[in-house]
Amino acid sequence: MASSEHPIIRYARLANDLPGDIIECGSWKLDSALRIGTICKEKIVYACDTFRGMPEPTEIDGHKEGDFLTSWDEIMPLAEGTNIVPVPGRFKYTLPLIAQSVRYFSMIYIDCDLYGSAKEAIDILWPCLVPQGILVADDYVNPACKGINLIMDTYFGGRMQVDENGFAMVRK
Ligand SMILES: C[S@@+](CC[C@H](N)C(=O)[O-])C[C@H]1O[C@@H](n2cnc3c(N)ncnc32)[C@H](O)[C@@H]1O
Repeated sequence: MASSEHPIIRYARLANDLPGDIIECGSWKLDSALRIGTICKEKIVYACDTFRGMPEPTEIDGHKEGDFLTSWDEIMPLAEGTNIVPVPGRFKYTLPLIAQSVRYFSMIYIDCDLYGSAKEAIDILWPCLVPQGILVADDYVNPACKGINLIMDTYFGGRMQVDENGFAMVRK
């Protein structure tokens, strides 16, 4: 399909046919979250990020602490009047609380670039994905995000599909 639409849109369309809200792990300035929200109008999109830049990376990661700096003051107006719920804080603190309160998701979108962060997100959220639910990770083929490649291969190796944009997707 030749198209200029953002690659996440195709997965949002698939998720729209499933029960459960959507959670994005790594949202920065809400660009993808807002795109997903326009497709999945009846769902809530939980947009999780420190909103204060990347936490500390590990050796495998190609980013440095503080990359993707933004602020709560910048984020809140972007979400106003939409179906996006920004969730500020590190995944290890925020995701267990969301998992406990929301309980099931149609889609988990991993766009956090770091090995440890992606591992936390998958470990905490995978049990909340509905049957046939979608876990999709950006940057699977990005040399600056080798940790995403590693964690997706480790957890989902043979089950994954990688699309032409380098998104790796697995259905539960
Ligand atoms: C590539 S950016 C996200 C881009 C965004 N999805 C978009 O469409 O523009 C990666 C984000 O992941 C966030 N992040 C990485 N690890 C995190 C963690 N453990 N907890 C919270 N946020 C994290 C960073 O703060 C950063 O904003």
